[in-house]
Amino acid sequence: MPAAGSGSRAGQCQPKQYVPIAGRPLLAHTLEALAAVPELTRVAVVLAPEDTRFEQAVPDFEGWVWRTGGATRAASVAAGLQGLRAQGALDADWVLVHDAARCLLRPQWVRALLSACRDDAVGGLLAQPIADTLKLQQEGACEQVERTVSRERMWAAQTPQMFRLGLLEDALAKAGEGVTDEASAVERLGHAPRLVRAALENFKVTLPEDFALAEALLKARKS
Ligand code: CTP
Ligand code: MG
Repeated sequence: MPAAGSGSRAGQCQPKQYVPIAGRPLLAHTLEALAAVPELTRVAVVLAPEDTRFEQAVPDFEGWVWRTGGATRAASVAAGLQGLRAQGALDADWVLVHDAARCLLRPQWVRALLSACRDDAVGGLLAQPIADTLKLQQEGACEQVERTVSRERMWAAQTPQMFRLGLLEDALAKAGEGVTDEASAVERLGHAPRLVRAALENFKVTLPEDFALAEALLKARKS
């Protein structure tokens, strides 16, 4: 679970993964969902080297904690894969990468991903078909439409994304730090990751208004 970002779009005075939501730091909810999937052997969290907060935020966490995050998400994920290697993981082992910021994750979506991909040659990702009509903005600062882009066959990529360790290492090494998800790196090697439908609810807390929405949904689930 990459959790080494600063949350620059979130408008908070601390990294978004530590903002309290429904009584707990955001990433504690994410880890709770992962802990409820017994098929996952172990959870590894990749933090920023300067992170001093994790152990206090999630005192009951029992997985690996590595302060080896990099300047981009791809670099943090690559560092996490190195950590897995050092623990003895092998080329053919499945790895699921999940954004700390997707705290609405439900264990049943992870299980759906596992059962869709475990017999697949490549792997896949949770995703959601786009419902809205898509507008491409004109270049430059003005917020005006250049044209409408067909939403047919368009999906929004979510996480977890599930690939075999060897393939994912290779894909990320070749793609460099610009990719914003694992699947796009794997696609560049010519593979076709499987799309596994989750729900809109599996959104990534990103903008200031997302915290209130995440909190309302988490509280509604618990009551
Ligand atoms: N992430 C990471 N290392 C980075 C950047 C991001 O581990 N250098 C993690 C984040 O902590 C988050 C996930 O990747 O859990 C998804 O990234 P994003 O939503 O973009 O988070 P931030 O980069 O923190 O936010 P922003 O882009 O708004 O700065
Ligand atoms: Mg980011």
